[in-house]
Amino acid sequence: GRVLLAYSGGLDTSCILAWLIEQGYETIAFMADVGQEEDFEAAKKKALAVGAKKFILEDLKKEFITELIYPAVQANAIYENVYLLGTSLARPVIARGMMAVAEKEGCDFVSHGCTGKGNDQVRFELAFYGLKPDIKVIAPWRIPEFYNRFAGRQALLAYAASNQIPVQQTASKPWSTDENLFHISYEAGILEDPDVTPPVDMWKLTTAPEDAPTTPERLSIEFKGGLPVKVVVEGGKTYEDSVEIFLALNALGRKHGIGRIDIVENRFIGVKSRGCYESPGATILRVAHMDIEGLTLDRNVRALRDQFVTVELSRILYNGHFFTPESEFVRSAIPASQRSVNGVVRIKLYKGNVVVEGRSSDEGLYDEKQSSMDELGGFEPTDTTGFIQIESIRIKKWAQANIRKGQA
Ligand code: ARG
Ligand code: SIN
Repeated sequence: GRVLLAYSGGLDTSCILAWLIEQGYETIAFMADVGQEEDFEAAKKKALAVGAKKFILEDLKKEFITELIYPAVQANAIYENVYLLGTSLARPVIARGMMAVAEKEGCDFVSHGCTGKGNDQVRFELAFYGLKPDIKVIAPWRIPEFYNRFAGRQALLAYAASNQIPVQQTASKPWSTDENLFHISYEAGILEDPDVTPPVDMWKLTTAPEDAPTTPERLSIEFKGGLPVKVVVEGGKTYEDSVEIFLALNALGRKHGIGRIDIVENRFIGVKSRGCYESPGATILRVAHMDIEGLTLDRNVRALRDQFVTVELSRILYNGHFFTPESEFVRSAIPASQRSVNGVVRIKLYKGNVVVEGRSSDEGLYDEKQSSMDELGGFEPTDTTGFIQIESIRIKKWAQANIRKGQA
């Protein structure tokens, strides 16, 4: 059979590649460029040296932004109130890229290096089945002949040595990472003790807030339909392309120490896991987007969106349910919720903080006269007396009952 392997260039997937070949599979190595810092040329050389029939690299950055990151921004997606879902967001585009290549290259099988305890195995495999239901998955870390043979890093290193797999020295980085243009994650290794402070040199995408510039930097972000269409940096450049906007916000966030988090989260399979994340640009966008919604989004649309779309989309992304009927349903509600989310937010970045300094919009939901404490605006003060009277009917009844019960 022919296998398409999600290849990372690291020790695990290089050993999996050699092992698949040993099992008699013709193996193609697949890599997605989702904006991670990576030496793709070196990875290609390595895969071919280990024995891959082909190495296929797909640039998925644009669709990662427009098809996954954008809906997440529009819906203010967030998991357990903290995690911005950077790894979860990349999985559907990678899986779709893989299924397209599997089809083209005639691969009946796909394989990956995810562990048997994590979220990614679920996300990848449910996405594969949601796109190509007849695909066959080889998950070595769930196959006893594999995991018994390669229990522990030493066994992998020995296998690598006997298969001419070059190994980089990774002892200085005792944790595992997953990077893309939205974020980087750090898990496992020394981080498994939730009370261990992440070493200062772990953080890769951002400056420590205490080392960030002491002069703030200002920018404005223009939204159309809830999406960022223009970023203007004060005294600097203007960005209008979706990828460039994202990269520019990442660079600004990096410089000012924005978007570091450290949490214990609940994985889909039920185990708790400690993770550290950096999402600089995404954090800026989230603050700006929620702010412009304050000015431009109807109160009840907002409440429904928060309760339904935000919560459900976040769950769908985290649990790997992107290619499902409920995902289509929930995502179809996003554009309708964002039609009025048009305007400009002015932001100050300063030592880990994203501070909103002002916002404007032509939507006209906000009426300075109506909101003003100094002016009448379209309704009389006596109207509000009636409103409070009616609202208080049941509250008075409830209070009276409480008093009666207290007296009995
Ligand atoms: N815990 C995060 C998540 O589930 C990050 C997972 C990181 N994945 C990885 N293969 N290193 O989304
Ligand atoms: C893994 O277990 O392969 C990485 C972490 C995760 O998927 O949650």
